[in-house]
Amino acid sequence: MKNYTIALLAGDGIGPEIMHEAVKIFRLIEERNDVTFTLIEADFGAAAYFKCGHPFPDETKAICDEADAIIKGPIGLSHEESKKIPIDMQPERGALLPLRRRYNTFANFRPVSLPKALAHFSPLKPEIIGEGIDLVMVRELVGGLYFGDKEVGVNEKGLRYVKETLEYDEEQICRIMHEALRLSMRRKKVLHNIHKSNVLKSSVLWNEVLEEVAVEYPEVEIKHILVDAAATQLCLNPGQFDVMVMENMFGDILSDQGGGILGSLGLMPSACKGPEKSYYEPSHGSAPDIAGQNIANPYSMIGSVAMMLEDSFGMVEESKNVWTAMQSVFADGYSTPDLSKPGSGVKMIKTAEFGDKVVAALRAMPAVV
Ligand code: IPM
Ligand code: MG
Repeated sequence: MKNYTIALLAGDGIGPEIMHEAVKIFRLIEERNDVTFTLIEADFGAAAYFKCGHPFPDETKAICDEADAIIKGPIGLSHEESKKIPIDMQPERGALLPLRRRYNTFANFRPVSLPKALAHFSPLKPEIIGEGIDLVMVRELVGGLYFGDKEVGVNEKGLRYVKETLEYDEEQICRIMHEALRLSMRRKKVLHNIHKSNVLKSSVLWNEVLEEVAVEYPEVEIKHILVDAAATQLCLNPGQFDVMVMENMFGDILSDQGGGILGSLGLMPSACKGPEKSYYEPSHGSAPDIAGQNIANPYSMIGSVAMMLEDSFGMVEESKNVWTAMQSVFADGYSTPDLSKPGSGVKMIKTAEFGDKVVAALRAMPAVV
């Protein structure tokens, strides 16, 4: 019997509600498989700041250090509420980026996936969606503008100025390219490289390193596309993409667009992989406007569990079962109010009911032997 220790960082806003549903899935996976999970809750985000004075308290760091994997809910407050926290203690700067840096989670995988049966969630026309949307964005997560040196001050003209640095070395680029190319080998063997080499020197190096690394993967066809053009093409013809690789900031923006073409960021789980440890999180924010109402869909959180099962614990088939179970609940006509408007046959249910239905659907599926 295997035992894995998992740190649960519920986070802010809708985080605790959707994490509650993720826990139901872990418990059912234990029942169905030769595995146990030790789930340890830890404070993280704005809630941790107000409770303990720090958004990433030492106790949470210790729990994460000991864990085999980490699952994290969304963090953050509304624009106005954020102002109650000193700028460097705000959960994005004070907790999330330090978490990424601590475990060096350089490879962020964001599936943008919508089976044909769920195509009605998307704002795109059926003829554009075709057989559904199925691509993965691979985002470099610990470099670039997010982590570069920053300078704020007053210049010689007496004007306030700011300087942020976009820095990558070839090793950082090389390792994310290997991740993207390996994923391409397991999928359609087409990799779209997202860059801005007509302006940014960082993109020139990015492209050079890709060409060097790609030699090791001769079967993968590389397609280069400027980031702005990629944004357009995601709307006009998402079916042309399979794996897309990009630097940190481009990945932040394009992955939200990925949520947009699906119809909601609520449909975007993700995996953040480091050399020793990975953590898993929804790609969306904490949605303070709907927090506490039990109406947020737990798809991104349960999808993050599915990604953990596959990537951290090698439970590939059971992971697929979780996806199938989740999608079957939508296919049966159920939805939560955050994703669907009433009418047109949608059976509206709450967060917890959605989780229960996923549990029931998974329970009805044969266990993996
Ligand atoms: C994401 C989020 C974060 C990011 C924020 C919360 C700092 O938007 O994971 O995409 O910008 O990376
Ligand atoms: Mg983002």
